[in-house]
Formats: sequence, structure tokens, C-alpha cells
Amino acid sequence: MSAMRQSVRTVGLGVLMASAVAGVLWLASGTSVRAQAPAPVADPQDIAEGMTIFRTKADCQTCHGWAADGRKMDTQMPDAPNLRASRLGRAGIIYAIKCGRPGRGMPAFDRMAYKDASRCNGTTTADLEKNNLALNDPAATLQPREIEMLADFLFAKVIGKGPMDTKAKCTEYWGGEAQDVCNELK
Ligand code: HEC
Repeated sequence: MSAMRQSVRTVGLGVLMASAVAGVLWLASGTSVRAQAPAPVADPQDIAEGMTIFRTKADCQTCHGWAADGRKMDTQMPDAPNLRASRLGRAGIIYAIKCGRPGRGMPAFDRMAYKDASRCNGTTTADLEKNNLALNDPAATLQPREIEMLADFLFAKVIGKGPMDTKAKCTEYWGGEAQDVCNELK
């Protein structure tokens, strides 16, 4: 009788320990599932703010075009790619904006880019000079939060969204406001 009670107690402890281990595993798997989940849908206000930064403060449109499709607004500016066709993920987009593309016409928008080596893969201004890689000046430097909003805008309205080819798409892009540029489209 006492031996049986003993074994019941042991089994009980075993179950307790097993569930504790399972709980830890569950927590661990929960963490990794969260890390792999797609980014949550961005706040519409952040998307709109990102679009404003694209057009005004950072003046991305001067090179990439108002629709970010590579039809630049200023012919004097470098030819910039169609961001609608970009294959970069969020981290890649953010890196491109922060660190630019030295020697290739894309400015770096992080104020500390290449000044603080930790910002751009350990590369410094001295490294760029040594390799004759010129860096275009940005219209303005941007805070990390502004760069996040630019990424929100690009993923919500540009990347993978196909060409800007209809009036309806154009009006939707501008948040439902009628725009002169949309009248040029069918
Ligand atoms: C002075 C012109 C210019 C301005 C202003 C500019 N870009 Fe660029 N951008 C370029 C060029 C040129 C490239 C292509 C660089 C290369 O060949 O790797 C590029 C590349 C990029 C890329 C990488 C695309 C890819 O798929 O590899 C992203 C993202 C990007 N630009 C976003 C922006 C954003 C957002 C802004 C505004 C904050 C901006 N650019 C402002 C010229 C510009």
C-alpha cells in the first residue's frame, strides 16, 4: 500500500516535471513562431506618413518617381530602379535606405551612416574613400522611425503591387484623392 502511494507520488511528480518541460518548449516554440510570422499590418497613418516622407522630406521621388516605379521626376538625377519590382525584404529595404548604395547613386539617409561603423556593416567613410565610392547627399537625414514608416509605405503600396497603369490604381495610391497625374492614365 505504501509502495503504491510512493509510486503514485513519483508518477505525479513526473507528470508535473513533464508539463513544466512542455511549458518551456511551448514558450520557446511560441517565440520562434512569432519571429517567423509576417510583419503585422502597418498602421494606415504610418503608411500615409511614409508616403509623405517619400515625396517631400526625403524626396525619394526625384529619382524613383512619384509612383516609385523608376520614372524619375528630375532628369538630372541618377536613374533609379523601379521599387515595385524590388525583391528585397524589410531588413534589406531598411538597410538600403539607411546606408544607401555607395558609388551607385543611392544616398544614405541615416545621419550616422559610415560615420559610426556599426551602422553599415562595419564600413566607414575612410573605406568608401579608399575604394573611390562616392555617396550622394540625401535631401534630409531620417530618424529610424521615419525609415520604418517609409518601409511600411513601400510594402503597403509599392513593392509587388505591379505597374502604376490605371487611373483607379493611381487614385487609390493617393488615398482616394483625385490627382492630375492620374488623369494621364486610362
Ligand atoms: C539621388 C537619387 C536617389 C534618391 C534621392 C533615392 N534613391 Fe533609392 N536608389 C537610387 C539608385 C540609383 C538606386 C540603385 C542603386 C544600385 O544600383 O544598387 C537606388 C536603390 C534603392 C533601393 C534598393 C532597391 C533594390 O531592390 O535593390 C531602395 C529600397 C531605395 N533606393 C529606396 C529609396 C528611398 C526610400 C528613398 C528616399 C528615402 C530613395 N531611395 C532615394 C537613387 C536614389
